[in-house]
Order: sequence, then structure tokens, then C-alpha cells
Amino acid sequence: MSDTSVDNPLRVGLRRERGVEPCVLVIFGASGDLTRRKLAPALYNLQVDRLLPRSFAIVGVARSPMPDSEFRTALREGVAAHSRRPIDERLWGEIEQGLSYVPVGDELDGFVRLREHLERLDRERGTSGNRLFYLAVPPSAFRPIVSLLAKAGVSEPGAGGSWCRVVLEKPIGHDLASASDLNDAINAVFDEEDVFRIDHYLGKETVQNLLVFRFANSIFEPLWNHKYIDHVQITVAESIGIEGRGRYFEEAGTTRDMVQNHLFQLLCLIGMEPPVALRADAIRDEKVKVLQSLREVDPASSHEATVRGQYAAGVIGDEKVIGYREEEGVDRNSRTETYSALELYIDNWRWAGVPFFLRAGKRLPKRATEIVLQFSGVPHRFFERRAAANSLTLRIQPDEGINLKFDAKIPGPKPHLQPVSMDFRYGSSFGQAPPEAYERLLLDAMLGDSTLFIRRDEVEAAWSYIDRLYEGWGNNGPEALPEYVSGTWGPAEADVLLARSGRTWRRP
Ligand code: BG6
Repeated sequence: MSDTSVDNPLRVGLRRERGVEPCVLVIFGASGDLTRRKLAPALYNLQVDRLLPRSFAIVGVARSPMPDSEFRTALREGVAAHSRRPIDERLWGEIEQGLSYVPVGDELDGFVRLREHLERLDRERGTSGNRLFYLAVPPSAFRPIVSLLAKAGVSEPGAGGSWCRVVLEKPIGHDLASASDLNDAINAVFDEEDVFRIDHYLGKETVQNLLVFRFANSIFEPLWNHKYIDHVQITVAESIGIEGRGRYFEEAGTTRDMVQNHLFQLLCLIGMEPPVALRADAIRDEKVKVLQSLREVDPASSHEATVRGQYAAGVIGDEKVIGYREEEGVDRNSRTETYSALELYIDNWRWAGVPFFLRAGKRLPKRATEIVLQFSGVPHRFFERRAAANSLTLRIQPDEGINLKFDAKIPGPKPHLQPVSMDFRYGSSFGQAPPEAYERLLLDAMLGDSTLFIRRDEVEAAWSYIDRLYEGWGNNGPEALPEYVSGTWGPAEADVLLARSGRTWRRP
């Protein structure tokens, strides 16, 4: 199966203009958290914006039997609790009449019943044989579901150009070998162009704006390279802990949970070359080149380029919080990291010698995702106090915006300098809350536009880098894992990582 399908730009444009074709969205994991908290509100908001097709149906799938009415109520509650806009009964009613539920377990007969149900919907609601299968289930269920879809003949597009696509949530694998095994199994049933791997960071408006910022403005791009940039910092700080996901987190740890996907995607968007066109594969080709250009880490020295840590009890805001090892589902002697910082290099013409410092952590003092480009200092120093050097901060969330910092003269007789800044804020410039990531991602998957989804080779290139780190760390071997007090900025070792080259983390 091909993994480099070429999207005809004209077709993508037309799809967007014409809107989503009639289709059925089949959600596996219909009774789960993701469906209630993210998918249901996203679908409702797409309906508010009139972006869903008239001939549309949503089929919930999970193991336990449940009447349609119960599924409708559960989704409605999800919308009421999590939608960015309040429920309008008439609009909700339009979605509700297309909602149904089918219990499906591990047996083929459940999938056959699902096929019959979908065929009935095609006849009754005019959904034309187009299906989007959304796998909101644990990754261990991906393979069996996909293979049973194929066996029951549900995954085959029907006659007359209808389509069948599959959406997968992360994590895709645990390492390179498992990711590529899983990708083989998925691609045995779905062509790569019909596989939509979600990284929900790509659905965020501020992340999509990175390409606009870089390639629609002429002032920054000439500076966007080793000649002017001293280093780049990418921070994804969270104040929350593991939120009851002890078992999952023990297996994952922050490097697999956040760095391999979200932080690497941000890195790609900051580091990539201009794509030849604004087309899914053109953009993904450039992103994957960034991952392929990452300087190989020698596992023997991976300790020098990385810092991991684990949160201990502490205070966040006014709230006392427990340490990671006291969380439910976590081993009392766990060696899983909840903080991960790394120094890496993109070995190519643009970025030669520029360090990229990435960090992600839970139970840090606040929630803040931002990217800082620290420019090099001026070549010659005129002023008494050294200029602070310019920096550009792209605030991904919250308080979305962009900040450029530079030095200015303090009014007065002496040439004293003070850093000042120019600030762009989404809130004041656009005056409205941006749509949720899942709205855009669901819409694009229905439109068949895979620009904001992760291609197989991207996932695998990212794992191949992360695998070497784990090799060096001895897969949670006996090396010390520093603790940090919840509510602080991570282990002191992370400061040393930058201090070695005379740099410091920027405080979000
Ligand atoms: C998920 C991780 O992918 O992203 C979570 O599994 C993390 O551990 C979450 O909390 C963060 O997403 P956001 O959109 O809140 O930054």
C-alpha cells in the first residue's frame, strides 16, 4: 500500500468548497471519555456552524448493549458539559435524529450486524456508502477492530466512488517496532491516504498559525536560521497530574506521551523548509525531513542530552497534591518520568549548530505551551548594559498570541536600555474563542484532507529517535530519576542542561 499518495490540490480545494459529502461517522469507544468530552461537543459545534452534511448519521459502537436513547442522552450530557457554545435544542435535535448505537464485541457477527446497520442507514438517510471509522479505543484494540472490519466487508468502499477512512488516536505504538507492526496491520486494510492519525496539537489554531506566521510574512523568515537564532525552546507545561490514568502513564511516561508526538510536531513546524505547495503530502514531506535530520543520539551519552524527573507531593495554586508514586495505578517504586527535557540538533543547512531545547512536564506551576526563538546578540556592543538579545515567543496556549521582545532606551539623559515587547493576542485581535482542535480534525477527516494528520513515516521517524533515548536510559534502568516538588519548574538538572552552554529556560 502506498504511503505517499499525492493529493491533487484542486480536489482538496473543491472538497472544502463543496463541504462534506453525505457520510456516516462510526465511533468505536462510544461510551468512553473521549467521545463524551471531545467528539460529541465537536460534532455539535460543527452542526452549529452548518459544516455537517444534510445526509449524515453517527453510529456509536461499544461492547455493552445500550438502547439508542441512552446513547443520545450520554452524548447530550457530554455536549452540555463540554461544548464551547450552549446547546440550542433545535440544532441538537438535528444531530440527535441521526444517532444510533450498535453493540459490537470481538466476534465477527457483531461486525456483520454493523455492516447491515450501515447499509440500512445508506438507504434510509442517503449516506451513500461513505464511512469514517473513528477508533476512540485503547490502541490494543486497533488491530482487532480493523481486521474484523475487513473480514465483515465493512471497510471496503462501495461501488460509485464511496470512501472508507479510519481515524486513530495516539499512541501509535510504544516504540518503532510496535508502531511499524501496527501500521502494517492498518495499511493491510486501509490505504495510507485513508488513514488519519490524530495528533490533537495540529488541530489547535495557534499551531496551524505557525506555518502562516512563517510563510505568509516576509519579515521573520530571513532570520529563521542558524545565522540569527541562538537557540529554540519548546515548552509544554501542565499543572495537572496524570488525572487517573496511572496504568496508561506507567507504560508511557512523558517522553512517549508528549515528546514523541506533540513536541516533535511543534519542532517540525518550527524547523521545516517551506513546502512546495499547501498540500497534505508536500507539508508532511517537509516535516518528516526535519525528523530524519535529527542528529543521532549515541545511547551511551543520552544522559547528557536529556533530563527526566518525577513529581513529588507539593502545592499547585492553593491545592496540596500527592506525588506521582502515590497516584492510583502507579507502582510505589515507579521509574516512569513525568518530566522530560532534551537538547537536540537538526543537522541541516538551516539549523547547523542551533540547539533546540524541549521540555514537557506535569505538575509544573502552570499550564503553558510556548515556543521561544532566542535570537543571537548584536555583533558589537555600544551600550553599557548588555542588550538582552531579541526573542520571539509563540504562545500556543493559553493566552494565545505572539510576543517580540527587544531593547529600548529608557527616556532620560543616559543611554540606559530596558527590554520592551510587542504583543499580539488572539483574543483582542479576533475577538472570539477559536474552535476546539477536534472540530477541525473531525471536519478534515470527513473532507479527506490529511494535512493535519500524521503520516506513517512521521510516526516512525519520531519513534526511531525516541527509541535511542530509551536504549540509553536502559528502559527505565537503575539510573537516578530526580524528583521535583509539584508546583516547581521541574528538576534542577534541567537548568543545568542549559546552564552548561550559558543559557537559561525562559519562564512562561
Ligand atoms: C495528551 C496526553 O495527548 O495531551 C496528556 O496524553 C496531556 O497526558 C494532553 O495532558 C495535553 O493536551 P492539551 O491539549 O491539554 O495541551
